[in-house]
Amino acid sequence: MEPTTQKPFLGFFDGDVHGQLADFRERWPVAPLRLPDGRTGWLLTRHDDVRRALADPRLVKDGLLSPLGFRPQLPPEVYAATAQNMLTVEPPDHTRLRRMIQGAFTPRRIGELAPAITATTDRLIDALDTPGTHDLVTEFAFPLPVAVISDLLGVPLDERGDFTEWASILASGVHRKSELPGAVVAMITFIRHLVAGKRERPGDDLTSALTTATDQGDQLTEDELVSTIYLLILAGYDTTANLIGNGAWLLLRDRTWWSEARADPDRLPKIIEEMLRYESPVQLGTHRMAAEDVSYGGQLIPAGSTVLLSLLSANHDDRVMAEPEVFEPARTRSVHLAFGHGIHHCLGAPLARLEARIAFTRLVSCLPETRLADGFVPRWRASALLRGLEDLVVTTR
Ligand code: HEM
Repeated sequence: MEPTTQKPFLGFFDGDVHGQLADFRERWPVAPLRLPDGRTGWLLTRHDDVRRALADPRLVKDGLLSPLGFRPQLPPEVYAATAQNMLTVEPPDHTRLRRMIQGAFTPRRIGELAPAITATTDRLIDALDTPGTHDLVTEFAFPLPVAVISDLLGVPLDERGDFTEWASILASGVHRKSELPGAVVAMITFIRHLVAGKRERPGDDLTSALTTATDQGDQLTEDELVSTIYLLILAGYDTTANLIGNGAWLLLRDRTWWSEARADPDRLPKIIEEMLRYESPVQLGTHRMAAEDVSYGGQLIPAGSTVLLSLLSANHDDRVMAEPEVFEPARTRSVHLAFGHGIHHCLGAPLARLEARIAFTRLVSCLPETRLADGFVPRWRASALLRGLEDLVVTTR
């Protein structure tokens, strides 16, 4: 490949993503790509480069959640309420926001969600325990995290139908692109109403805790509060759904892993780390903007460029691990970057791990006979940011 022939960014999703990334790692580790808006982005694929870039203060957030520069048409006051959260800003604002939110999103609060996560898991599993085929993606992997986020944020039971619908549109990316602006507006309006309700009648939920934190000082502005809740919904939904869907696929494509997890559930934490490494839910699109000229792999990346970091590729780099193409939970040291690295390292990682652990513990023990449906072939969603299956069709009896 010549540096002058820029590969179109979206070309990745047409085929073998793992194979293409391996090719990039080997032949063109710092590669210019043509972004859909015509600009040039730089794709980093080797583990050491990606890890260094994630912690490089010269590579900053540019306020965009999408690396494609895609910004849905939104009224300005709605846009302001989506883009003032820790994932889109840098220090000192990032430090202030992250400290405040971490103070409310404590290990105790996460641990207390376990009974509700188990109850939701069991309810979903009951519905799966019938003859015929089931789709684990739509019937299990997606409904679980959105219910958990509703519990975490204290969304009232009678408002969960709308909440789930809007969250699903936000999570569906290109699939429901035309519905996106409407869903963003509806979700921001809903969050404002949720916050107002919690100010009047606080509960033991994260929204109330964040509201109190705001009231005690002048730290979280109203837009920051709304934007943070919006981020938690966005960041915690389809990522976790993809971990569960991709993970179930990895356990079922070679059923030994399903049986091993059932025989010894204590192995699940390591199995889950290997799922995160092997089919990383955030695959390609974590991105930054170069605030000044930087050099990676001897290549100059000019100031103002978009820099795309492929976590999936970093997690398959044989420069830092043996036989990356083998699913091997017994790896002595997992060096995966599936939750990122540096100051933006995933705040929700403990919650995602807890959800996955409960989900898989219950799935393998309650539905031991689960198998891929005859002729099932995995199809991956066409998404720049995330790696997830379109469906996972199984029988459970
Ligand atoms: C940040 C992955 C689940 C909340 C991140 C980042 C990654 C990531 C890669 C860093 C992005 C960057 O550097 O640009 C994942 C994966 C998940 C998951 C793979 C599930 C398997 C969750 C959950 C929540 C959450 C359940 C909360 C409910 C956040 C937040 C940030 C973040 C708030 C921003 C942190 C910051 O900018 O300081 N996540 N995430 N994530 N994640 Fe997660």
